Amino acid sequence: MKDRNAFSQQERDAVYRAISTRRDVRRGFLPKPLPDDLLNRLLNAAHSAPSVGFMQPSRFIIIRDLAVRQTVHGAFLQANNQALATYTGDRHEQYASLKLEGILESPQNLCVLSDAQSQRGHRLGRQTMPETAIYSTVCAIQNLWLAARAEGVGVGWVSILDPARLRKILHIPEEIVPVAYLCLGYVDGFSPEPELELTGWEKRIPLEVVVSHDMYCEHRSIDNAADKDV
Ligand SMILES: Cc1cc2nc3c(=O)[nH]c(=O)nc-3n(C[C@H](O)[C@H](O)[C@H](O)COP(=O)(O)O)c2cc1C
Repeated sequence: MKDRNAFSQQERDAVYRAISTRRDVRRGFLPKPLPDDLLNRLLNAAHSAPSVGFMQPSRFIIIRDLAVRQTVHGAFLQANNQALATYTGDRHEQYASLKLEGILESPQNLCVLSDAQSQRGHRLGRQTMPETAIYSTVCAIQNLWLAARAEGVGVGWVSILDPARLRKILHIPEEIVPVAYLCLGYVDGFSPEPELELTGWEKRIPLEVVVSHDMYCEHRSIDNAADKDV
C-alpha cells in the first residue's frame, strides 16, 4: 500500500533513476554552454540542501573564463603527476591511463565552498561536530549532482588539486574552505557504470557487506573482501 505522503510510482521511479544513473563524468562534454536558467536550477537544488542548524554555509563560484580554467588545469596536471608517482607496477600504468577531469572540455566549472566559520544557525548542531558545516556543503553538491543528471547535464568532481593553489587562483579567503571543484556541461552520454569500475580500478561493494545491525561489525574486512572479488 502506498503511504499517503509518498510520491506517485512514476515520481519515485524518476528519483531512483536519477540516483542510479548519476555518474561522475570526465569525458564527452559538449561545447555548448549551459543556459543561465538551467544553471540556476542546479544552483537552486544545491542551495535547497539540508544544512546543520540551517546555517547554509555553501558558496559557489561559476568559472567560465578559459584562462582561469587553463590555470586550474595546470594545477590539476601537477597534482596528478604527484599522485601518479605514488603508484608502482600495474597500478601505475592503470592510473596513467585514467581520464580524471574535464576542466577544459566542460564549458563551465563550479567551485563549491563552505563558509564553515559562518555564525548563521547560531552553532546549532556544530558544537560537538564542527565538521558538519563541511558535510552540509557536501549535501548541497549531491543535490546539484542529482538534479544535473535529471536535466541531462554531466558533472565531474575533481579533487586532484592542491587546495592552497586553488585558493590562490580563485582568490578564496583563508576562512572559506574549497570543498569541490566540479566540471559541468551537456554530454554525449552517461556511462552505464562508474568508469573506475569499467576500467578495472575498483569494484562496487555489495550492500550487505557494509550493513551491520545494532553494533559495528568488525569481523569483515571490507578491504580484504574487495581483494577476494566479493
Ligand atoms: C569527494 C569526491 C572526489 C572525487 N574526485 C575525483 C577526481 O578527482 N577525479 C575523478 O575522476 N573522479 C573523482 N570523483 C568521482 C569518483 O571517482 C566516482 O564518484 C566513483 O568512481 C563512482 O563513480 P560514479 O560517480 O560514476 O558512480 C570524486 C568523487 C567524490 C565523491
